[in-house]
Amino acid sequence: MAGTDGGKERLRIGLIGCGFMGRAHSNAYNRVANFFDLPCVPHLTAVCSRNAERTRAFASTWGYESIETDWRAMVARDDIDAIDICVPNKFHCEIATSAAAAGKMVLCEKPLAMSAAEGEQMCQAVETAGVANMVWYNYRRVPAVTLAKQLIQEGKLGKIFHYRANFLQDWTIAEDLPQGGTALWRLDAAEAGSGVTGDLLAHCIDTALWLNGPMQDVTAMTETFVKQRVHQATGEVAPVNIDDACAFLCRFENGSLGVFESTRYARGHKALYTLEINGEHASLRWNLHDLHRLELFSHDDEGRLRGWRSIHVTDHDGSQPYMDKWWVPGLQIGYEHTFVHQVADFLEGLVTGQPAAPTFRDALATQRVCDAVLDSAASGRWTSLSQPSR
Ligand SMILES: NC(=O)c1ccc[n+]([C@@H]2O[C@H](COP(=O)([O-])OP(=O)(O)OC[C@H]3O[C@@H](n4cnc5c(N)ncnc54)[C@H](O)[C@@H]3O)[C@@H](O)[C@H]2O)c1
Repeated sequence: MAGTDGGKERLRIGLIGCGFMGRAHSNAYNRVANFFDLPCVPHLTAVCSRNAERTRAFASTWGYESIETDWRAMVARDDIDAIDICVPNKFHCEIATSAAAAGKMVLCEKPLAMSAAEGEQMCQAVETAGVANMVWYNYRRVPAVTLAKQLIQEGKLGKIFHYRANFLQDWTIAEDLPQGGTALWRLDAAEAGSGVTGDLLAHCIDTALWLNGPMQDVTAMTETFVKQRVHQATGEVAPVNIDDACAFLCRFENGSLGVFESTRYARGHKALYTLEINGEHASLRWNLHDLHRLELFSHDDEGRLRGWRSIHVTDHDGSQPYMDKWWVPGLQIGYEHTFVHQVADFLEGLVTGQPAAPTFRDALATQRVCDAVLDSAASGRWTSLSQPSR
């Protein structure tokens, strides 16, 4: 890090990718110092994507000082401290390992990699270089989800019996939707690695591992409902190699059972992430469309008051996660704030020396589960997580 902004150290960011996540991260870098009092602040040094005109427009909208059109040039610059990877999954490994070798901190979008083998390479690169690293599993930092973590850690649920999660969308039902290219890389396994498993279930798995601990084994089924689509790169009809839908069961090491489902064929759902946890003393549930509420059923309330409580995670006395940084009690925050929280935690980790999670190594555990799920779906058998599956 070099120089100061208003007396605070500057973390000079080089962002790669100007799409959905490029915007979400840029917003977070711009906002964080307005709400969090940290000794170090992000500085938007450069942004990179392949089209110069669009990158220049992005730089002007979000306040980046300069642009690059080749990520290698970005990584080679000596005026950048941290590389932020917001490009399709295919590029994560090569960019992250190059950035680490150049001594840069690396923040990488999820899923960490195309496979656990690639993820391991990325972990070794950042660990060998000794550079700070983090993966953007942002749902950990929805205040209601963070509160769930606190309640579980405090033992409020007791022994956990069940964990279930869904991530549902409906945007790929049309058979004439093409695959590949700039907008539809998620439908091309060569760019994305997998379909809903790496794209959507990876979020559910990361949250589950964080809230409920490691998984022991999994059994899965996947389906590709539309078997071929026109590929935008060639104009030719080509097989679809991603999983359109995935459902899996798992056993957690703590003895609880997990049920997970994700699809892009759930008509009526654009992006619905839900989770529920049932414990000996209490149950918790949360859903992305009501993200500021955590629902709690407590066995202590049996009798006249039996029922689910809906905790509005903004009616705080300063004790609900992150909420003391925002508005007066009762006023909500939303999706984009999860990224602000993640930047704040990353910066704090640099100062305290306690790295913000998930690090690459933490996120590799999710990648291993994704691989095991896909292996099980292919083999039709349970896959153990005690031995890496690939
Ligand atoms: N944390 C989350 O909730 C979340 C949500 C969406 C996407 N993601 C992840 O973020 C990453 C990006 O997804 P997105 O939705 O922002 O994609 P996007 O398609 O909206 O944007 C991708 C950007 O990368 C650029 N790009 C592609 N190849 C490049 C290259 N070789 N060099 C430089 N730039 C290149 C494109 O021009 C585009 O600007 C993916 O890994 C995805 O899985 C995470």
